[in-house]
Amino acid sequence: MRIIRSLAAMSEVSRKLKEEGARIGFVPTMGAFHQGHLSLVRQARRDADKVIVSIFVNPIQFGPKEDFKKYPRGLKGDCKLAKAAGADFIFSPDKDRMFPRRFLTHVEVYGLSDVLCGRFRPGHFRGVATVVAKLFNIVRPDIAYFGRKDAQQATIIKRMVSDLNMPVRVKVMPIVREKDGLAMSSRNAYLNKQEREDSAVLFQALNQGKALIKQGKRNRKDIINKIKAIINKKNTARIDYIEIIDPDCLTPLKAVRGKALIALAVYVGKTRLIDNVLINSQPGN
Ligand code: PAJ
Repeated sequence: MRIIRSLAAMSEVSRKLKEEGARIGFVPTMGAFHQGHLSLVRQARRDADKVIVSIFVNPIQFGPKEDFKKYPRGLKGDCKLAKAAGADFIFSPDKDRMFPRRFLTHVEVYGLSDVLCGRFRPGHFRGVATVVAKLFNIVRPDIAYFGRKDAQQATIIKRMVSDLNMPVRVKVMPIVREKDGLAMSSRNAYLNKQEREDSAVLFQALNQGKALIKQGKRNRKDIINKIKAIINKKNTARIDYIEIIDPDCLTPLKAVRGKALIALAVYVGKTRLIDNVLINSQPGN
């Protein structure tokens, strides 16, 4: 496995791979790997001839009061894990090379970026879309892999790719969870023992919501209130939002029918966690 830091070297490697007819699978990440990230790398290994994993803690997707500085970093350990999962190249560019001072261009996916997490993190998805567009241009992958853990992010990237005719296929993979159901996340490392224990309530509450829908409950407000009540039992939890939405256009579903996504963001202590479950509420599902 080769570690590449220069943008020009990465582009050159991709150009050569393409010339040889290799299909490139690409997994963009910010590092601090857990099984969620590695599931994407393994899928890329199964699908593609060459697997490129980027590790870049993207400064422009963090708000001024967010955790850019303390975001967990550990390139050495990540490289080992990525190699074992089947990566051929790690692309880990320098922050100032990716975003020099004269950087003036952004990608904004209107309508999808200012709802749900976007309401609480202004500019976040513009930062995500911009860095992913840059990474796609440098790496030029055939298939790119994203996790449904960040469902809004996946929807936004798919829309960007479609709207801007980017020649890449986006594959969205299921959420990998801890034994007690907590969705794996690099930010789980911030949780203390009590918070870690309490955070299992998020998946329990989402599952309760899912069960209500399966039982035939259709009223969005009622279902959301039931989920809220379960989460509010934990002293360490503070809800940012809970919403039931159409997974493609991210708009709230007044009456829950067909495909639905229950998505939430909850602070457990000082750590903001997100999670979601996908439901097909069509009869028979
Ligand atoms: P990061 O948080 O490192 O996540 C990288 C990829 O791993 C994302 O597609 C994310 O959805 C996926 N992922 C994280 N936890 C997961 C889990 N428990 N199960 C399955 N997949 C999971 O998301 C980002 O980085 C950045 O925003 C990025 C797209 C790299 C742009 O900077």
